[in-house]
Amino acid sequence: MKTIVLTGATRGIGRALVRPLTELGHTVVACGRSTAEIDDLGSAFGPPHRFETVDVSIWEEVEAWAQRAVPFLLSLTSEHNGRALSV
Ligand SMILES: NC(=O)c1ccc[n+]([C@@H]2O[C@H](COP(=O)([O-])OP(=O)(O)OC[C@H]3O[C@@H](n4cnc5c(N)ncnc54)[C@H](OP(=O)(O)O)[C@@H]3O)[C@@H](O)[C@H]2O)c1
Repeated sequence: MKTIVLTGATRGIGRALVRPLTELGHTVVACGRSTAEIDDLGSAFGPPHRFETVDVSIWEEVEAWAQRAVPFLLSLTSEHNGRALSV
């Protein structure tokens, strides 16, 4: 199983990918700017999946998200035998 970092998960293709990826057994770490939709995703898809409000056009937000996500990804990576994918 893989950990998939998905930007733009609140609408469109990103949103459409969340359920099938989780149903395939992957762990989704995803973001978007719309907090209400992010909160809905967090309620619908609980841990180990993670949904956070991040504007990827703002470097400081991306950097902070990466700093939060990297330790999480590292811990999952060891659980998943070193296999991870981020896009
Ligand atoms: N290569 C292809 O064949 C192909 C085909 C279709 C689409 N695409 C590309 O795939 C992408 C998605 O298309 P779509 O139709 O699904 O678009 P969409 O419905 O407009 O969805 C865009 C997603 O990106 C998020 N987003 C936009 N700006 C953001 C930002 N600054 N920070 C974080 N999240 C942001 C939006 O959420 P928030 O508003 O909540 O931030 C939304 O979840 C586009 O880049 C499109 O050009 C490629």
